[in-house]
Amino acid sequence: MPAMRRGVPRVVARPNTQSIRDEVLRGLHAEPKTLPPKLFYDAVGAELFEQICELPEYYLTRAELEILHARAGEIAELAGPRVALLEYGSGAGVKIRLLLDALESPAAYVPIDVSREQLARVSTELAAEYPRVAVRPLNADYTLPLAVPTLPEGSRRVAFFPGSTIGNFHPMEAAVFLGRVRRAVGKDGALILGADRCKSAAVLNAAYDDAAGVTAKFNLNMLTRLNHDVGARFDVSNFQHRAFFNSRASRVEMHLVSKEAQIVRVGGDFIDFEKGESIWTESSYKYDRARLEELIETAGFRIRKLWTNSKRQFWVAYLDAA
Ligand code: AVJ
Repeated sequence: MPAMRRGVPRVVARPNTQSIRDEVLRGLHAEPKTLPPKLFYDAVGAELFEQICELPEYYLTRAELEILHARAGEIAELAGPRVALLEYGSGAGVKIRLLLDALESPAAYVPIDVSREQLARVSTELAAEYPRVAVRPLNADYTLPLAVPTLPEGSRRVAFFPGSTIGNFHPMEAAVFLGRVRRAVGKDGALILGADRCKSAAVLNAAYDDAAGVTAKFNLNMLTRLNHDVGARFDVSNFQHRAFFNSRASRVEMHLVSKEAQIVRVGGDFIDFEKGESIWTESSYKYDRARLEELIETAGFRIRKLWTNSKRQFWVAYLDAA
């Protein structure tokens, strides 16, 4: 089957999820109640996340872009020519352009994302802007094992996992996940990893509970999304956004707190909430240098370069397969 029709990359859906509904119900019957952060990114959520990246309190995106901008040349030199870039969680496709512009004749770009609409749009744009790069979008949940599409002969695989999305995994799961990335790129492969640094609770709390309320909207949108997609009947006004830095666990936690005792119908089930009980929707782990190095080594990578931005807020690491 042709991968491209009139310059529009065909989005390959690899339905490697069991149904969302099963996953949602399992999470809501668990103790404490949890929902996975990938559920944030329906079309509305993906757009809200782009707004978050522009917020004055949300320093992460700007910090990482500063590093990528300053180091794109060095990265290109380390990566070499004819790279096949595999991006885990491609989002709006801003950061990848910095790399594609710096690399020497990049061969392929495989954006992997759960947000189907955004993936299709960004892939189409990039295929037009970079006609010499084979764009092979994969609409998949990369937290589950996935099959990488066939890549151009002689290309070298470099994974790109920016944005501190690694922070969504518990550190033990992060090592397992990066181990899978290590196998996906092979023994000559590399990984460019972005991770958020540990910092004061005040800065972190503001970043995840902004004054304009965009992060609150983003968090609450998960319930609206479940109302649309799995026939849930959440009254969104009965829940409240809560985000805080848990310093012992070195993570920001986001929750949706039930404002009152209530029973919510989800699919065929009824879910009981006490007043003040929460659904834990996201963890964002923050890494000091020692923990980051430990994670990288456990996953089978070796640090070639480790960079931070001028305000020392964020890490970008260039890693080789060990
Ligand atoms: C996309 C997972 C990196 O954890 O900072 C932003 C998502 N959540 N504000 C993060 C997010 C709340 C973001 N990641």
